[in-house]
Amino acid sequence: MAEPRNRPLAWGTRTFLAFTAVVVASMLSVAIVALIVGPPLFHEHLLELSPVVGSEEMRHAEQAFVDSGVRSLAAGLVVALGIAILLSWWESRRLRRPLEELTSAANRLESGDAGVRVSVDSGSHEFNAVGRAFNDMATRLDSTEENRRQLLSDVAHELRTPLSTLMAELEAISDGLVPWDRAGHELLTQQAARIQRIANDLNDVSRAEEGRFELDLHPVEISALVDHAIAVFRPQFSAKGVELTASAGWGTVVADEQRVGQVIGNLLDNALRHTPSAGHVRLSAEIVDGRASISVTDSGEGLTPEQMSRVFDRFYRTDTTRAMDAGGSGIGLTISRSIARAHGGSLAVESPGLGGGAAFMLTLPNASIHARRS
Ligand SMILES: Nc1ncnc2c1ncn2[C@@H]1O[C@H](COP(=O)(O)OP(=O)(O)O)[C@@H](O)[C@H]1O
Ligand SMILES: [Mg+2]
Repeated sequence: MAEPRNRPLAWGTRTFLAFTAVVVASMLSVAIVALIVGPPLFHEHLLELSPVVGSEEMRHAEQAFVDSGVRSLAAGLVVALGIAILLSWWESRRLRRPLEELTSAANRLESGDAGVRVSVDSGSHEFNAVGRAFNDMATRLDSTEENRRQLLSDVAHELRTPLSTLMAELEAISDGLVPWDRAGHELLTQQAARIQRIANDLNDVSRAEEGRFELDLHPVEISALVDHAIAVFRPQFSAKGVELTASAGWGTVVADEQRVGQVIGNLLDNALRHTPSAGHVRLSAEIVDGRASISVTDSGEGLTPEQMSRVFDRFYRTDTTRAMDAGGSGIGLTISRSIARAHGGSLAVESPGLGGGAAFMLTLPNASIHARRS
């Protein structure tokens, strides 16, 4: 590629020229002022000594004054120029190092090396601040990249089990080892449904991982949230013989109704799956201190402290759930917690232990109580 014709001057040269211009301009102003003000003043002082006006001595003294002034100014100019060269060399060297480091780090980042960082000890506040901002950006990119890698490998892992079951079953059928009967059909449908569920959840999971949910925020009646969830889930609970009760206070919360509905649905679906028939699940919503507190409490399997610390992890399912393959893909709670956090709220779990039931609490800010309408 041809060099651009008007290549800008190097940083060091520009700094030097700037320093030199300042030095020359100051020296010139000093010289002009000195030459205008100095000689008449000197002349006045000489007259006070009452010499013979116009004598050879007086002319000589005045000439000597001007000569020595000009010479000292010339010497001063040389010294000042020398100092300007030194200062501009030192300044450009001090600033060039972090700039070059930043440029090469940005190039490496651009080519995919997210582990790159720059030093933040350049001795200049401004450059250190730029360096820190760069490092923060690189760290963020790095963790997003790491998340993405991990997500891909988790997804591949999750898909492998249902897919290999499907393949094995299909092969057995086509080899005539297994008849195409009702049980085989059910197994295939189950595995296909599992893959479909994973595909549906994947839509949300990467957004959840990166904490990017676009929320459509409006004031929502908490009682409407509860009523809607109960209407949807009542039939499934009745079918399994699990009692479902609900209570809701009066008030609104500024939230994305659909997303919060998705969280409540997730919690009810989990509670139903982990509570045996004749058990009991309670959904309640109330507003306390400007926060909406929505909880789903069940009398089901419960969770160990170890399990509680992991239920929000992506693709985590407790061993019993895995063994029974009771349906979920293990990302419902990951997504739910991200939705809660996107609202500035939280999602937490409590359980006294295995067999003791579990309670999930969704807390959302920006809520207010209003008087019951008649
Ligand atoms: N109410 C509950 N009681 C006991 N275990 C639960 C309950 N809710 C969730 N879990 C455990 O947490 C895991 C993760 O839940 P979730 O992320 O919703 O995944 P999924 O429902 O797809 O399995 C579940 O697989 C289950 O092991
Ligand atoms: Mg779930």
